[in-house]
Amino acid sequence: MNIPNITRDEILNAFTYRHATKEFDATKTVSDEDINFILKTANLSPSSFGFEPWHFIVVQDKELRELLKPVAWGAPLKLDTASHFILGLSMKAPMVKHDADYIRHMMKDVKQFPEDVIKTYSKFYREFQDRDFNLDTDKKLFDWSSKQTYIALGNMMTAAALTGIDSCPIEGFHQEKAEAVLREKFDVDTDKYGLSFMLAFGYRKADPAFPKSRRAFEDIITWK
Ligand SMILES: Cc1cc2nc3c(=O)[nH]c(=O)nc-3n(C[C@H](O)[C@H](O)[C@H](O)COP(=O)(O)O)c2cc1C
Repeated sequence: MNIPNITRDEILNAFTYRHATKEFDATKTVSDEDINFILKTANLSPSSFGFEPWHFIVVQDKELRELLKPVAWGAPLKLDTASHFILGLSMKAPMVKHDADYIRHMMKDVKQFPEDVIKTYSKFYREFQDRDFNLDTDKKLFDWSSKQTYIALGNMMTAAALTGIDSCPIEGFHQEKAEAVLREKFDVDTDKYGLSFMLAFGYRKADPAFPKSRRAFEDIITWK
């Protein structure tokens, strides 16, 4: 495995170049190789206990994109122009509660833990949910899954920016109505998955209308 060797300047340039792209150049397509690279960075993202409580749907079908417009006020222009349009789903209680089948599957089949390790890990996980983080409602569990799916979101956008690909994260949608569309038209089991965000990829149609604005560095960092 190689030690990463990207310069700080290159990385900061990518962070500065990235902006929430309002409209993409509809004539340009992100290559299969590039989009798979971006998705791979979601796959490699860290998650609490390593349980990867997410799923991503890449919506390329035009009719399906149309169905999202009425429930996603922040998305129509991106749905029309983005090369690739992703729905970031996060797991709900039936998937991520400590006694869920999925959790056992992750430990047994994906991580290939032996039974004694599964027992210890399960105990830690249960205590974390019940005692430490107080994840005692469906909403809290979904939001906790979502927090992790957002790590994958950040990684995908950074990976894209590092390779000159534009993106826009989108929370401009009605969660309940959007989930109804996912249930009825996208075959998503919305008892198990909720919609955390939408994410568009492509190439910017124009440079950003405004320069990047950020709070002063010293206002957001405290050293003790
Ligand atoms: C979680 C999240 C949700 C967002 N939702 C939308 C959205 O629905 N529509 C949109 O145009 N931009 C959306 N944005 C983009 C932000 O407005 C943008 O990142 C912010 O204003 C900073 O600008 P910059 O990303 O261009 O530096 C979202 C950003 C984040 C992180």
